[in-house]
Amino acid sequence: MSKFIDFEKPSLWYALASIFFNPLFWNIIARQEYHNKILTKLAGGNPRRGCYGLAVTIFSLGIFRDYLYSQALSDQPVHPLLQTEFVKLVAIGLFLSGNILVLSSMYALGVTGTYLGDYFGILMDQRVTGFPFNVSNNPMYQGSTMVFLASALWYGTPAGIVLTAVVYTNYNIALRFEEPFTAMIYSKRK
Ligand SMILES: *[C@@H]1O[C@H](CO)[C@@H](O)[C@H](O)[C@H]1NC(C)=O
Repeated sequence: MSKFIDFEKPSLWYALASIFFNPLFWNIIARQEYHNKILTKLAGGNPRRGCYGLAVTIFSLGIFRDYLYSQALSDQPVHPLLQTEFVKLVAIGLFLSGNILVLSSMYALGVTGTYLGDYFGILMDQRVTGFPFNVSNNPMYQGSTMVFLASALWYGTPAGIVLTAVVYTNYNIALRFEEPFTAMIYSKRK
C-alpha cells in the first residue's frame, strides 16, 4: 500500500518548523522594533540600515525554508495521480505567476516597503495600487503560496500539498496580526 505522507522523515518536520517559525520571527522582531527600536539602535540610529539588516535576515530565512521544503519533498512518496503532464503544466503556470506576483510586489514596494519598513517608521508616501496590487490583496503571500504549491505539484507529493495548506493558513494568521498593526501605524502618521 502506498502511503500518502511519510511522517517518519525528519525533513518533513524541519520544513514544518521553518514554515511556522518564519512569520512568527518577523512579526515578533517587527513589533519590538516598533516599540523599542533595537535594530535601529544596533544600526547606529539609522532606521533604513536597520531595516536592510532585517530584510537580509528575512530573505535568508526564506531561502533556508525553501531549501528545507525541497528536501522534505524529495523525501516524500509520490502519488501517481499527481504524475501527469497536466499537473506538471499547472505547476509551471503556478511557479511563473507566483514569482511574478512576488517579484513585482517587491519591485513596487522597494526593500523597506517589502520588509516591514513601516515598523521602523519608514512609511510609504501613498498606498501602492498598481500591479500587482490591483490583482491581489497580498501578492507577496499569495505568490509565495502559489510557488509552494507549484513545487508540491512538480514533485507530485501529497505531503507538499499539505505543507502548502499549512503555509497558506500560516500566512493568513500572520495577516491578522500584520494588517491591523500596519493600519494603526499609518493612522498615527503625523
Ligand atoms: C493592473 O494594473 C496594470 C498597470 O499597472 C494594468 O496593465 C492591468 O490591466 C491592471 N489589471 C487589472 C485587473 O485592473
